[in-house]
Amino acid sequence: TRPLKVALLGCGVVGSEVARIMTTHADDLAARIGAPVELAGVAVRRPSKVREGIDRELVTTDAKGLVSRGDIDVVVEVIGGIEPARTLITTAFENGASVVSANKALLAEDGATLYAAAEKHGRDLYFEAAVAGAIPLIRPLRESLAGDKVNRVLGIVNGTTNFILDKMDTSGAGYSEALDEATALGYAEADPTADVEGFDAAAKAAILAGISFHTRVRLDDVYREGMTEVTAADFASARRMGCTIKLLAICERAADGRSVTARVHPAMIPLSHPLASVRGAYNAVFVEAEAAGRLMFYGPGAGGAPTASAVLGDLVAVCRNKLAEATGPGESAYTQLPVSPMGEV
Ligand code: HSE
Repeated sequence: TRPLKVALLGCGVVGSEVARIMTTHADDLAARIGAPVELAGVAVRRPSKVREGIDRELVTTDAKGLVSRGDIDVVVEVIGGIEPARTLITTAFENGASVVSANKALLAEDGATLYAAAEKHGRDLYFEAAVAGAIPLIRPLRESLAGDKVNRVLGIVNGTTNFILDKMDTSGAGYSEALDEATALGYAEADPTADVEGFDAAAKAAILAGISFHTRVRLDDVYREGMTEVTAADFASARRMGCTIKLLAICERAADGRSVTARVHPAMIPLSHPLASVRGAYNAVFVEAEAAGRLMFYGPGAGGAPTASAVLGDLVAVCRNKLAEATGPGESAYTQLPVSPMGEV
């Protein structure tokens, strides 16, 4: 069988780990897919920054040229952001490739364009790594629960803020002290705005609400409140009530089924709730479905290797589909429901 050709867009923390595992686990991947997978090109902005172990001959700054080659089977997009990622992904579909993306911002802002392009060209769009890193969540929602009716998704989907809130809870530290520790340990970015103001969690909430309720939810539809105002005194009061404070992403279907809601804000939860025991930078997502009941997904929500695990799982699935001349789930049966920020609650 001819090798399946993979183009990697972006070679930072996640991309370099994807490339490394593709090399070290090449035989296992080939066995699971039924054909070898070959890294055919790596597009980056700054070639001098590409880590050791990646064949320099594969490295290019011409991402557009790479996805337009016509012989690429799968494009793995781990550059993030809206543009040029959106144009590169749609160009990849136009040129016959399927796409594995970790790009939560783009999916939350304009998933519709990506789904439409995938469908038009009969290709796959998989994005397990876009929400909650290594935790299998997108495929369970799009596939395993496709025969059920999901009514509510409630989760801790940002590791940085969970680390900060956990630190405040367990040590009595204030917000800035806990943030400094998160920065020193490499959890928080130099500019932590996307995490602490809830933008990252809101993008994930938009994606989760869309796939859970088979409708379109965009970042702007999500009510968002960050956690920078939570104080040590708030934790003390929460404790007195037998609660702790978590930054939650909450997606709900209205009781009459006619609208949905998606929101992100700090919330008090009872210490007896399973989400209360999610410590450090971990993520956990509670899903309530009509027939399945309550499910909880838990694990590392960020980091190079965990995120690469999700990307590689998608790569295997997409390659298998390609060999079978089939496609995985798309957006085919969506119905646009009104999205109200605070719902009926
Ligand atoms: N900044 C994110 C987090 C990374 O802390 O969870 C994963 O999206």
